[in-house]
Amino acid sequence: MAAADAGGALSGRKRDHLRLSLDADVGFASLTTGLEAVRVMPRALPERDLEAVDLSLSLWGRTLSAPLLISCMTGGVSEAGPVNRALAAAAQRHGVALGLGSGRALLEGGDPATFAVLDVAPDVLVLANLGAVQLRTYGVDECRRLLDACAADVLVLHANAVQEAVQPGGDTTFAGLIERIAVVCEALDRPVVVKEVGFGLAPADVSALAAAGVAGVDVAGAGGTNWARVEGLRDDRAGAVAAAFADWGLPTADAIRGARAALDSAGADDVVLVGSGGLRHGVDALKALCLGADVAGVARGLLAAGAAGADAATAAVGVLCEQLRVAAWAAGAGGVGDLGPELLAAERD
Ligand SMILES: Cc1cc2nc3c(=O)[nH]c(=O)nc-3n(C[C@H](O)[C@H](O)[C@H](O)COP(=O)(O)O)c2cc1C
Repeated sequence: MAAADAGGALSGRKRDHLRLSLDADVGFASLTTGLEAVRVMPRALPERDLEAVDLSLSLWGRTLSAPLLISCMTGGVSEAGPVNRALAAAAQRHGVALGLGSGRALLEGGDPATFAVLDVAPDVLVLANLGAVQLRTYGVDECRRLLDACAADVLVLHANAVQEAVQPGGDTTFAGLIERIAVVCEALDRPVVVKEVGFGLAPADVSALAAAGVAGVDVAGAGGTNWARVEGLRDDRAGAVAAAFADWGLPTADAIRGARAALDSAGADDVVLVGSGGLRHGVDALKALCLGADVAGVARGLLAAGAAGADAATAAVGVLCEQLRVAAWAAGAGGVGDLGPELLAAERD
Protein backbone atom coordinates (compact mmCIF):
# COMPACT_ATOMS: atom_id res chain seq x y z
CA MET A 1 0.00 0.00 0.00
CA ALA A 2 1.39 3.40 -0.95
CA ALA A 3 1.91 5.89 1.85
CA ALA A 4 -0.74 8.08 0.22
CA ASP A 5 -3.26 5.32 0.80
CA ALA A 6 -2.82 4.73 4.55
CA GLY A 7 -6.05 3.63 6.26
CA GLY A 8 -7.59 0.82 4.16
CA ALA A 9 -11.37 1.31 4.69
CA LEU A 10 -11.10 5.08 4.48
CA SER A 11 -9.06 5.03 1.29
CA GLY A 12 -11.36 2.42 -0.27
CA ARG A 13 -14.32 4.71 0.42
CA LYS A 14 -12.56 7.79 -1.00
CA ARG A 15 -11.63 5.84 -4.11
CA ASP A 16 -15.24 4.64 -4.52
CA HIS A 17 -16.50 8.21 -4.09
CA LEU A 18 -14.35 9.40 -6.97
CA ARG A 19 -15.26 6.47 -9.22
CA LEU A 20 -19.01 6.58 -8.52
CA SER A 21 -19.20 10.38 -8.79
CA LEU A 22 -17.56 10.15 -12.19
CA ASP A 23 -19.36 7.11 -13.60
CA ALA A 24 -22.63 6.34 -11.79
CA ASP A 25 -26.03 7.95 -11.52
CA VAL A 26 -25.66 9.67 -8.15
CA GLY A 27 -28.25 12.39 -8.60
CA PHE A 28 -31.67 12.70 -6.96
CA ALA A 29 -34.66 10.67 -8.17
CA SER A 30 -36.90 13.63 -8.97
CA LEU A 31 -36.01 16.46 -6.57
CA THR A 32 -34.29 19.41 -8.27
CA THR A 33 -32.33 22.41 -7.01
CA GLY A 34 -35.26 24.75 -7.62
CA LEU A 35 -32.90 27.05 -9.52
CA GLU A 36 -34.68 26.14 -12.77
CA ALA A 37 -37.75 28.00 -11.47
CA VAL A 38 -35.76 31.15 -10.68
CA ARG A 39 -35.73 33.65 -13.55
CA VAL A 40 -33.15 36.34 -14.03
CA MET A 41 -34.64 39.45 -15.70
CA PRO A 42 -32.69 39.76 -18.94
CA ARG A 43 -31.56 43.28 -19.85
CA ALA A 44 -31.22 43.82 -23.59
CA LEU A 45 -29.50 47.14 -22.98
CA PRO A 46 -27.14 46.68 -20.03
CA GLU A 47 -25.75 50.23 -20.65
CA ARG A 48 -22.27 48.96 -19.83
CA ASP A 49 -19.58 47.20 -21.88
CA LEU A 50 -19.07 43.54 -21.03
CA GLU A 51 -15.44 44.39 -20.45
CA ALA A 52 -16.43 46.78 -17.68
CA VAL A 53 -17.95 44.00 -15.57
CA ASP A 54 -15.70 43.31 -12.59
CA LEU A 55 -16.85 40.51 -10.29
CA SER A 56 -13.77 40.53 -8.08
CA LEU A 57 -14.05 40.52 -4.31
CA SER A 58 -11.93 40.24 -1.19
CA LEU A 59 -12.52 37.16 0.89
CA TRP A 60 -10.64 36.04 3.99
CA GLY A 61 -7.45 37.84 3.06
CA ARG A 62 -7.39 36.88 -0.61
CA THR A 63 -8.68 38.50 -3.79
CA LEU A 64 -10.96 36.42 -5.99
CA SER A 65 -11.63 37.36 -9.63
CA ALA A 66 -15.16 36.00 -9.31
CA PRO A 67 -17.33 34.79 -6.41
CA LEU A 68 -16.79 31.14 -7.24
CA LEU A 69 -15.57 28.14 -5.26
CA ILE A 70 -14.52 24.72 -6.50
CA SER A 71 -16.17 22.80 -3.65
CA CYS A 72 -14.33 20.26 -1.49
CA MET A 73 -13.96 16.88 -3.15
CA THR A 74 -10.94 14.74 -2.69
CA GLY A 75 -7.59 13.84 -1.13
CA GLY A 76 -5.92 11.01 0.75
CA VAL A 77 -5.73 8.43 -2.05
CA SER A 78 -3.16 8.37 -4.80
CA GLU A 79 -5.57 9.24 -7.63
CA ALA A 80 -6.79 12.31 -5.71
CA GLY A 81 -3.49 14.17 -5.92
CA PRO A 82 -3.60 14.85 -9.67
CA VAL A 83 -7.29 15.88 -9.44
CA ASN A 84 -6.56 18.41 -6.67
CA ARG A 85 -3.55 19.76 -8.53
CA ALA A 86 -5.48 20.11 -11.80
CA LEU A 87 -8.31 21.95 -10.04
CA ALA A 88 -5.74 24.06 -8.17
CA ALA A 89 -4.05 25.11 -11.42
CA ALA A 90 -7.49 26.08 -12.77
CA ALA A 91 -8.25 28.06 -9.61
CA GLN A 92 -4.92 29.88 -9.88
CA ARG A 93 -5.47 30.73 -13.56
CA HIS A 94 -9.00 32.08 -13.04
CA GLY A 95 -8.78 33.52 -9.53
CA VAL A 96 -11.43 31.36 -7.86
CA ALA A 97 -11.33 29.58 -4.48
CA LEU A 98 -10.49 25.90 -4.05
CA GLY A 99 -11.78 23.41 -1.50
CA LEU A 100 -9.82 20.22 -0.76
CA GLY A 101 -11.51 16.97 0.25
CA SER A 102 -11.67 15.62 3.78
CA GLY A 103 -8.27 15.68 5.45
CA ARG A 104 -9.09 12.90 7.91
CA ALA A 105 -6.76 10.57 6.00
CA LEU A 106 -3.96 13.08 6.41
CA LEU A 107 -4.51 13.25 10.19
CA GLU A 108 -4.48 9.45 10.29
CA GLY A 109 -1.11 8.97 8.68
CA GLY A 110 -1.90 9.44 4.99
CA ASP A 111 0.53 11.18 2.69
CA PRO A 112 -0.09 14.95 2.71
CA ALA A 113 1.15 15.10 -0.91
CA THR A 114 -2.36 14.43 -2.28
CA PHE A 115 -3.46 17.72 -0.68
CA ALA A 116 -0.39 19.73 -1.69
CA VAL A 117 -1.34 22.52 -4.08
CA LEU A 118 0.68 25.50 -2.86
CA ASP A 119 3.25 25.30 -5.66
CA VAL A 120 0.57 25.39 -8.40
CA ALA A 121 -1.85 27.70 -6.59
CA PRO A 122 0.20 30.18 -4.54
CA ASP A 123 -2.42 32.96 -4.77
CA VAL A 124 -5.53 30.83 -4.33
CA LEU A 125 -7.87 30.92 -1.34
CA VAL A 126 -7.58 27.28 -0.23
CA LEU A 127 -10.07 25.59 2.07
CA ALA A 128 -9.09 22.47 4.03
CA ASN A 129 -11.84 20.07 5.03
CA LEU A 130 -12.75 17.75 7.90
CA GLY A 131 -15.93 16.02 9.06
CA ALA A 132 -17.60 17.94 11.87
CA VAL A 133 -18.10 14.61 13.63
CA GLN A 134 -14.30 14.16 13.68
CA LEU A 135 -14.32 16.87 16.38
CA ARG A 136 -15.35 14.04 18.72
CA THR A 137 -11.78 12.79 18.32
CA TYR A 138 -9.79 15.76 17.12
CA GLY A 139 -9.47 19.23 18.58
CA VAL A 140 -8.00 22.58 17.69
CA ASP A 141 -4.44 21.24 17.47
CA GLU A 142 -5.35 18.72 14.77
CA CYS A 143 -7.37 21.34 12.88
CA ARG A 144 -4.32 23.60 12.91
CA ARG A 145 -2.10 20.70 11.81
CA LEU A 146 -4.46 19.99 8.90
CA LEU A 147 -4.53 23.66 7.84
CA ASP A 148 -0.74 23.88 7.98
CA ALA A 149 -0.22 20.62 6.06
CA CYS A 150 -2.56 21.85 3.30
CA ALA A 151 -1.26 25.46 3.46
CA ALA A 152 -4.94 26.36 3.70
CA ASP A 153 -6.52 29.70 4.59
CA VAL A 154 -9.85 28.37 5.85
CA LEU A 155 -11.14 25.28 7.67
CA VAL A 156 -14.35 23.73 6.35
CA LEU A 157 -16.21 21.26 8.56
CA HIS A 158 -18.73 19.07 6.79
CA ALA A 159 -21.94 18.08 8.56
CA ASN A 160 -23.21 14.98 6.76
CA ALA A 161 -25.64 13.25 9.11
CA VAL A 162 -27.52 11.18 6.52
CA GLN A 163 -24.36 10.15 4.68
CA GLU A 164 -22.78 8.94 7.93
CA ALA A 165 -25.95 7.06 8.93
CA VAL A 166 -26.29 5.28 5.59
CA GLN A 167 -22.64 4.37 5.10
CA PRO A 168 -21.41 1.12 6.68
CA GLY A 169 -19.38 2.02 9.77
CA GLY A 170 -20.38 5.69 9.57
CA ASP A 171 -20.07 7.85 12.69
CA THR A 172 -23.41 9.15 13.96
CA THR A 173 -22.26 10.53 17.32
CA PHE A 174 -23.55 14.02 16.51
CA ALA A 175 -24.62 15.01 20.07
CA GLY A 176 -22.92 18.21 21.19
CA LEU A 177 -21.21 18.98 17.87
CA ILE A 178 -22.31 22.62 17.73
CA GLU A 179 -20.52 23.24 21.03
CA ARG A 180 -17.37 21.60 19.65
CA ILE A 181 -17.61 23.72 16.50
CA ALA A 182 -17.91 26.83 18.70
CA VAL A 183 -14.72 25.85 20.57
CA VAL A 184 -12.80 25.50 17.29
CA CYS A 185 -14.18 28.81 15.98
CA GLU A 186 -13.03 30.52 19.16
CA ALA A 187 -9.55 28.98 19.31
CA LEU A 188 -8.51 28.77 15.68
CA ASP A 189 -6.80 31.77 14.15
CA ARG A 190 -8.38 31.07 10.76
CA PRO A 191 -11.98 31.26 9.50
CA VAL A 192 -14.20 28.23 10.02
CA VAL A 193 -16.97 27.35 7.56
CA VAL A 194 -19.57 24.63 8.06
CA LYS A 195 -21.18 22.91 5.10
CA GLU A 196 -23.59 20.12 4.28
CA VAL A 197 -22.68 17.75 1.46
CA GLY A 198 -25.76 17.95 -0.76
CA PHE A 199 -28.91 17.73 1.39
CA GLY A 200 -28.87 21.38 2.48
CA LEU A 201 -28.42 23.26 5.75
CA ALA A 202 -31.72 24.15 7.40
CA PRO A 203 -32.24 27.78 8.46
CA ALA A 204 -32.23 26.59 12.11
CA ASP A 205 -28.77 25.05 11.56
CA VAL A 206 -27.57 28.27 9.96
CA SER A 207 -28.80 30.33 12.95
CA ALA A 208 -27.13 27.94 15.40
CA LEU A 209 -23.86 28.03 13.46
CA ALA A 210 -23.88 31.83 13.29
CA ALA A 211 -24.35 31.89 17.07
CA ALA A 212 -21.45 29.41 17.39
CA GLY A 213 -19.15 31.90 15.67
CA VAL A 214 -18.58 30.45 12.20
CA ALA A 215 -17.13 32.73 9.53
CA GLY A 216 -19.21 31.09 6.82
CA VAL A 217 -21.84 28.51 5.98
CA ASP A 218 -22.22 26.55 2.75
CA VAL A 219 -25.76 25.29 2.27
CA ALA A 220 -24.72 22.49 -0.17
CA GLY A 221 -28.38 22.07 -1.03
CA ALA A 222 -30.24 19.18 -2.62
CA GLY A 223 -30.67 18.63 -6.33
CA GLY A 224 -27.08 17.79 -7.26
CA THR A 225 -25.09 14.93 -5.78
CA ASN A 226 -27.04 12.59 -3.49
CA TRP A 227 -24.64 11.16 -0.90
CA ALA A 228 -27.09 8.56 0.38
CA ARG A 229 -27.19 7.22 -3.14
CA VAL A 230 -23.39 7.23 -3.45
CA GLU A 231 -23.04 5.24 -0.22
CA GLY A 232 -25.95 3.02 -1.29
CA LEU A 233 -24.09 2.01 -4.41
CA ARG A 234 -21.17 0.75 -2.30
CA ASP A 235 -23.09 -1.71 -0.15
CA ASP A 236 -26.40 -3.64 -0.43
CA ARG A 237 -27.69 -2.89 3.06
CA ALA A 238 -26.76 0.78 2.67
CA GLY A 239 -28.55 0.73 -0.69
CA ALA A 240 -31.75 -0.54 0.91
CA VAL A 241 -31.67 2.26 3.51
CA ALA A 242 -30.59 4.87 0.96
CA ALA A 243 -33.58 4.09 -1.28
CA ALA A 244 -35.82 6.19 0.97
CA PHE A 245 -33.47 9.17 0.68
CA ALA A 246 -33.48 9.45 -3.10
CA ASP A 247 -35.33 12.78 -2.76
CA TRP A 248 -34.28 13.82 0.75
CA GLY A 249 -33.14 17.33 1.49
CA LEU A 250 -33.75 21.02 1.04
CA PRO A 251 -33.48 22.16 -2.59
CA THR A 252 -30.57 24.52 -3.13
CA ALA A 253 -32.72 27.56 -4.02
CA ASP A 254 -34.80 27.17 -0.84
CA ALA A 255 -31.67 26.50 1.24
CA ILE A 256 -30.04 29.72 0.04
CA ARG A 257 -33.20 31.80 0.62
CA GLY A 258 -33.61 30.27 4.09
CA ALA A 259 -29.96 30.74 5.04
CA ARG A 260 -29.98 34.38 3.88
CA ALA A 261 -33.11 35.06 5.92
CA ALA A 262 -31.62 33.32 8.98
CA LEU A 263 -28.37 35.31 8.76
CA ASP A 264 -30.24 38.58 8.20
CA SER A 265 -32.52 38.02 11.15
CA ALA A 266 -29.51 37.13 13.34
CA GLY A 267 -27.78 40.36 12.21
CA ALA A 268 -24.91 38.13 11.02
CA ASP A 269 -23.93 40.03 7.86
CA ASP A 270 -20.28 39.15 8.49
CA VAL A 271 -21.02 35.42 8.00
CA VAL A 272 -20.21 34.49 4.40
CA LEU A 273 -22.94 32.48 2.68
CA VAL A 274 -21.84 29.95 0.07
CA GLY A 275 -24.59 28.76 -2.25
CA SER A 276 -23.96 25.31 -3.70
CA GLY A 277 -25.53 21.98 -4.51
CA GLY A 278 -26.25 20.97 -8.09
CA LEU A 279 -25.02 24.16 -9.77
CA ARG A 280 -24.39 23.20 -13.41
CA HIS A 281 -23.14 26.43 -14.96
CA GLY A 282 -22.59 30.16 -14.56
CA VAL A 283 -26.27 31.05 -14.88
CA ASP A 284 -27.06 28.74 -11.94
CA ALA A 285 -24.21 30.48 -10.08
CA LEU A 286 -25.72 33.90 -10.85
CA LYS A 287 -29.12 32.73 -9.58
CA ALA A 288 -27.51 31.46 -6.35
CA LEU A 289 -25.79 34.82 -5.88
CA CYS A 290 -28.98 36.78 -6.59
CA LEU A 291 -30.89 34.65 -4.06
CA GLY A 292 -28.45 35.80 -1.37
CA ALA A 293 -25.25 33.78 -1.61
CA ASP A 294 -21.93 35.67 -1.42
CA VAL A 295 -20.06 32.90 -3.25
CA ALA A 296 -21.31 30.09 -5.50
CA GLY A 297 -19.79 26.59 -5.24
CA VAL A 298 -19.53 23.75 -7.75
CA ALA A 299 -18.24 20.25 -6.96
CA ARG A 300 -19.23 17.30 -9.17
CA GLY A 301 -19.79 19.55 -12.20
CA LEU A 302 -16.00 20.09 -12.27
CA LEU A 303 -14.85 16.62 -11.27
CA ALA A 304 -14.56 15.08 -14.73
CA ALA A 305 -12.53 18.04 -15.93
CA GLY A 306 -10.33 17.81 -12.82
CA ALA A 307 -9.77 14.11 -13.47
CA ALA A 308 -8.83 14.88 -17.09
CA GLY A 309 -5.95 17.13 -16.06
CA ALA A 310 -4.92 20.75 -15.65
CA ASP A 311 -5.76 21.87 -19.20
CA ALA A 312 -9.29 20.42 -19.08
CA ALA A 313 -9.88 21.80 -15.58
CA THR A 314 -8.60 25.25 -16.57
CA ALA A 315 -10.87 25.25 -19.63
CA ALA A 316 -13.92 24.14 -17.61
CA VAL A 317 -13.40 26.72 -14.86
CA GLY A 318 -12.80 29.34 -17.57
CA VAL A 319 -16.17 28.54 -19.14
CA LEU A 320 -17.87 28.72 -15.74
CA CYS A 321 -16.33 32.15 -15.09
CA GLU A 322 -17.29 33.41 -18.53
CA GLN A 323 -20.86 32.18 -18.17
CA LEU A 324 -21.19 33.98 -14.84
CA ARG A 325 -19.69 37.17 -16.23
CA VAL A 326 -21.93 37.23 -19.32
CA ALA A 327 -24.98 36.43 -17.18
CA ALA A 328 -24.17 39.19 -14.69
CA TRP A 329 -23.66 41.68 -17.55
CA ALA A 330 -26.89 40.66 -19.31
CA ALA A 331 -28.74 41.03 -16.00
CA GLY A 332 -27.50 44.61 -15.73
CA ALA A 333 -24.88 44.05 -13.02
CA GLY A 334 -21.41 45.61 -13.02
CA GLY A 335 -19.99 44.08 -9.84
CA VAL A 336 -20.76 41.72 -6.98
CA GLY A 337 -22.49 44.50 -5.06
CA ASP A 338 -25.19 44.60 -7.75
CA LEU A 339 -26.10 40.91 -7.41
CA GLY A 340 -29.34 40.54 -5.48
CA PRO A 341 -33.03 39.67 -5.67
CA GLU A 342 -33.80 42.85 -7.61
CA LEU A 343 -32.20 41.20 -10.66
CA LEU A 344 -34.69 38.31 -10.51
CA ALA A 345 -37.95 38.42 -12.45
CA ALA A 346 -39.69 35.71 -10.45
CA GLU A 347 -38.50 37.01 -7.08
CA ARG A 348 -39.77 40.48 -7.81
CA ASP A 349 -43.42 39.54 -8.24
C1 LIG B 1 -16.17 13.02 -5.47
C2 LIG B 1 -16.70 13.94 -4.40
C3 LIG B 1 -16.10 13.91 -3.15
C4 LIG B 1 -16.55 14.75 -2.13
N1 LIG B 1 -15.89 14.77 -0.94
C5 LIG B 1 -16.22 15.70 -0.01
C6 LIG B 1 -15.44 15.87 1.16
O1 LIG B 1 -14.45 15.18 1.38
N2 LIG B 1 -15.83 16.82 2.06
C7 LIG B 1 -16.93 17.61 1.84
O2 LIG B 1 -17.22 18.49 2.65
N3 LIG B 1 -17.69 17.47 0.75
C8 LIG B 1 -17.36 16.55 -0.19
N4 LIG B 1 -18.10 16.45 -1.34
C9 LIG B 1 -19.36 17.20 -1.44
C10 LIG B 1 -19.23 18.47 -2.25
O3 LIG B 1 -18.33 19.38 -1.66
C11 LIG B 1 -20.59 19.16 -2.43
O4 LIG B 1 -21.04 19.71 -1.22
C12 LIG B 1 -21.67 18.24 -2.96
O5 LIG B 1 -21.15 17.30 -3.89
C13 LIG B 1 -22.80 19.02 -3.62
O6 LIG B 1 -22.33 19.81 -4.69
P1 LIG B 1 -22.48 19.36 -6.22
O7 LIG B 1 -23.94 19.06 -6.43
O8 LIG B 1 -21.98 20.54 -7.01
O9 LIG B 1 -21.65 18.14 -6.40
C14 LIG B 1 -17.66 15.61 -2.38
C15 LIG B 1 -18.26 15.64 -3.64
C16 LIG B 1 -17.79 14.81 -4.66
C17 LIG B 1 -18.48 14.84 -5.99
